[in-house]
Amino acid sequence: MAGFMLGVVTINHRGIGPRRRPAVPRYNRRALSIQSSHEVIMSGAVAVSKYDPFARLLHWLIVLLLVAQYVVAWTMPEIHRGTRPEGLIVVHLDLGAFIIAVMIVRVLWRIARKEPDVVEGTPFTRGVAYLTHGLLYLLLIVQPLMGWANASSRGWQVTLAGIDLPALSAKGSALGHTLGDAHRLLAWGMLVLIGLHVLAALYHHFVLHDRVLRRMA
Ligand code: HEM
Ligand code: HEM
Repeated sequence: MAGFMLGVVTINHRGIGPRRRPAVPRYNRRALSIQSSHEVIMSGAVAVSKYDPFARLLHWLIVLLLVAQYVVAWTMPEIHRGTRPEGLIVVHLDLGAFIIAVMIVRVLWRIARKEPDVVEGTPFTRGVAYLTHGLLYLLLIVQPLMGWANASSRGWQVTLAGIDLPALSAKGSALGHTLGDAHRLLAWGMLVLIGLHVLAALYHHFVLHDRVLRRMA
């Protein structure tokens, strides 16, 4: 700081006068105030909050798991009436159950920690981002649950770390069958949404040159 403080009076290059607060924009002051709950990067006078390390770990873990899950889903044998759960189909079920478990932890962590302070974008773009993230969370829970219900209707046991999970629908149930169709359809819907999300992140980084991508990096 260019001057020095004497109680409530500051002496600086502008002379002696009442002590002034540093000219930090509102959002920066808020970002500073959440230092205890979120990592805050100081870059000169600008404070930018980041997602905490565990939230970032969960985000990139889910990205990896989803890449693997789509590859497995599209390479596993076609599933018909009477297909036995073997090979890649079992990998799909196990990976899917693991994704649900990680997502439950992620949602709980999100509720407990909340999003870091928003410093970038207009109210509209922030609204769109908020909506997209909410939808992604919802789909990442609902879509695999539908797959699980379909597996149950086929009489397949779904396990997590070797522990048998309960059936979500009765064997042969019409609802489980329909949810299987919805599961396949929503897998595409989710992919479209993820595509938009990734494009938005890259647009922020390479076109707007703001810090949005670094919040999650
Ligand atoms: C986010 C996680 C998941 C993704 C992205 C995903 C993706 C997919 C995709 C793309 C298909 C269609 C494959 C094809 O067209 O041949 C599929 C089918 C299927 N998935 Fe998943 N899946 C996920 C989680 C799960 C879970 C948790 C389970 C069960 C525990 C599951 C069980 C099934 C079953 C039984 C089918 C066959 C459905 C049918 O053809 O009627 N999936 N999945
Ligand atoms: C499977 C793919 C992905 C899924 C399902 C996904 C999902 C999500 C979700 C749900 C959030 C909100 C986090 C929260 O508020 O708690 C988020 C944030 C974010 N994601 Fe992804 N993401 C994916 C891939 C990516 C990729 C590839 C990138 C980078 C190119 C990326 C960059 C970001 C960034 C920068 C944020 C923070 C945005 C902000 O601060 O407003 N994501 N992602």
